[in-house]
Amino acid sequence: MSQPVSIQTKNGHVLLRRLTTNDLDKLAAYLHEVSDEVKNRFGPHHFNKPAILEFYSWPHENIGFVAEDVANESIIGYAIIKCGYLSHDKPRWQSYGLDLDSIKCCTFAPSVTDAWQGIGIGKNMLQYILKELTVSGIQHVILWGGVQSDNIKAIRFYESFGFETKGTFDHYGSNYDMILSIDFPD
Ligand SMILES: CC(C)(COP(=O)(O)OP(=O)(O)OC[C@H]1O[C@@H](n2cnc3c(N)ncnc32)[C@H](O)[C@@H]1OP(=O)(O)O)[C@@H](O)C(=O)NCCC(=O)NCCS
Repeated sequence: MSQPVSIQTKNGHVLLRRLTTNDLDKLAAYLHEVSDEVKNRFGPHHFNKPAILEFYSWPHENIGFVAEDVANESIIGYAIIKCGYLSHDKPRWQSYGLDLDSIKCCTFAPSVTDAWQGIGIGKNMLQYILKELTVSGIQHVILWGGVQSDNIKAIRFYESFGFETKGTFDHYGSNYDMILSIDFPD
C-alpha cells in the first residue's frame, strides 16, 4: 500500500491517500455536497452512510482513495478501484474481442468536487493509484459503467492517460467503454 502523498495545487496543499474506516462521516459529507453534475456522472454506490459501509464490506474487492484539503481536512476528491470487473460487463468486453483476466484487471471510477476540478487533482489521484496498481501486477484498467459520451471533460482526462475507447453501449444514454493497458518495463 502506498504512503500518503502531499501535493501543492493552486487551491492549497492536498493529501492523496487511501480511504480508511475513519473517513465515513467525511466521505458522506463530500458525497452530499458535490453538485448534481458530479452526482449524475459518478455512481458506483449510493451516497448515504449505510450504502458506503456496504460497499466497503469486502475490503479486498473495493478500494477507496481520497484527496484531502490539508487546510481543513475535508475530502475534495474520491476515487474507487474495484479489483476485477463487474460480472455483467464481461459479455460486452468479450464482444470487443477482449477476454479480461479478473486478477490482472481492475475497474476505476474518479470524482473531484467542482471547486477543485481542472487543477490537477484527478490527474494526481490517478497517478497515485497507478503506482499501486503497477506494483500489484494489474495490466488493464477499465471504467466503472463506462463514460457518458457527452462527458467531454472525463473523456479528455482518460485520453490524457492513454485510455482507448473499445466500444459504445446504451444505458440511460450513450456510453463509451475505455481501457488503459499498463506497460511494464522489461
Ligand atoms: C473527470 C474528473 C475526475 C477529472 O478530474 P480533474 O481534477 O478535474 O482533472 P485534472 O485537473 O487533473 O485534469 C486532467 C486532464 O483532464 C482533462 N481535463 C480536465 N478538465 C478539462 C476540461 N474542462 N475540458 C477538457 N479537458 C479537461 C485534461 O486532459 C487534463 O489534462 P491537462 O491539465 O494536462 O490538460 C473530474 O472532472 C470529475 O470529477 N468530473 C465529474 C465526475 C466524473 O465525470 N467522473 C468520471 C465518470 S466516468
